[in-house]
Amino acid sequence: MEIRKVAVVGGGTMGNGIVTVFAINGFPVTLVETKQEYIDRAMSNISSSLDRMVKKETITEEVKNSALAKISRVTGVENIDPDTDIVIEAVFENKDVKLSIFNTLDGLLKPESILASNTSSISITELAPKNRADKFIGMHFMNPVPVMKLVEIIRGYSTSDATYEDIKELTLKLGKVPVEVQDYPGFISNRILMPMINEAIFALMEGVANKEDIDSVMKLGMAHPMGPLTLADFIGLDVCLAIMEVLYNGFNDPKYRPCPLLKKMVAAGKLGRKSGEGFYKY
Ligand SMILES: NC(=O)c1ccc[n+]([C@@H]2O[C@H](COP(=O)([O-])OP(=O)(O)OC[C@H]3O[C@@H](n4cnc5c(N)ncnc54)[C@H](O)[C@@H]3O)[C@@H](O)[C@H]2O)c1
Repeated sequence: MEIRKVAVVGGGTMGNGIVTVFAINGFPVTLVETKQEYIDRAMSNISSSLDRMVKKETITEEVKNSALAKISRVTGVENIDPDTDIVIEAVFENKDVKLSIFNTLDGLLKPESILASNTSSISITELAPKNRADKFIGMHFMNPVPVMKLVEIIRGYSTSDATYEDIKELTLKLGKVPVEVQDYPGFISNRILMPMINEAIFALMEGVANKEDIDSVMKLGMAHPMGPLTLADFIGLDVCLAIMEVLYNGFNDPKYRPCPLLKKMVAAGKLGRKSGEGFYKY
């Protein structure tokens, strides 16, 4: 199936980036939020992001204007056009909220429509509506979406080959690189990234080295653009802890146990950049 008409549910960090990438690649895209003020906030962020791209000469003023003209907005998932080919969900990482959205969409959309989730850690198989499980898939974009090339495409237990092929082709049309991943906790990205961050926190807790030196080892010795503790602050320590718990519970394997220092910092409200303090002060 050729995918043309797109809707993105959630106009936060990820939803805005996903809408932007579809619009600059010429797709008509509908931004869906819960309230008009959130739509206004999202459109203002999208517009500033397009302005930055024009300044950096990654797009022209003309592309920016045609991208903005491609974006329509609706309040409430129940108001999405039933003829939409794909709906990508990018709301809070909360299973019940996501399930309720997919349930509504399943009842509303034409039978051929594909449903995708941008979840970082919830099982794609568990999110899929029973009657549309073959047309359900994970599209895990990376932050910031307009910059990062990777999209992990996660196949749930019942995702069909046809759905996978459609999404792979769509990802290529967005100028991104698709990677095929099976539905296991943390997929590939977080299964490898989060235990590395968690291990860096263990090293700090055990006094193996101070935070700056732990970050320097990975930056200067392994050519990572950012040290793991700086990266944890950037992602949010609460998000890191939640993903470690998904790995720990999903595999029932003690190798994924969250570091006690990580748990203590989250309990103390030291969540990283967003709270003004994590491993570093901001
Ligand atoms: N932030 C990241 O770095 C990152 C990276 C990859 C994947 N993800 C995943 O992407 C998803 C979104 O994350 P985010 O960081 O953009 O969250 P966010 O908190 O920035 O944005 C979520 C948005 O969803 C909206 N929303 C909530 N319920 C809604 C509903 N019923 N209908 C329409 N809109 C609704 C909220 O108003 C909010 O604007 C999560 O599943 C997260 O795990 C995040």
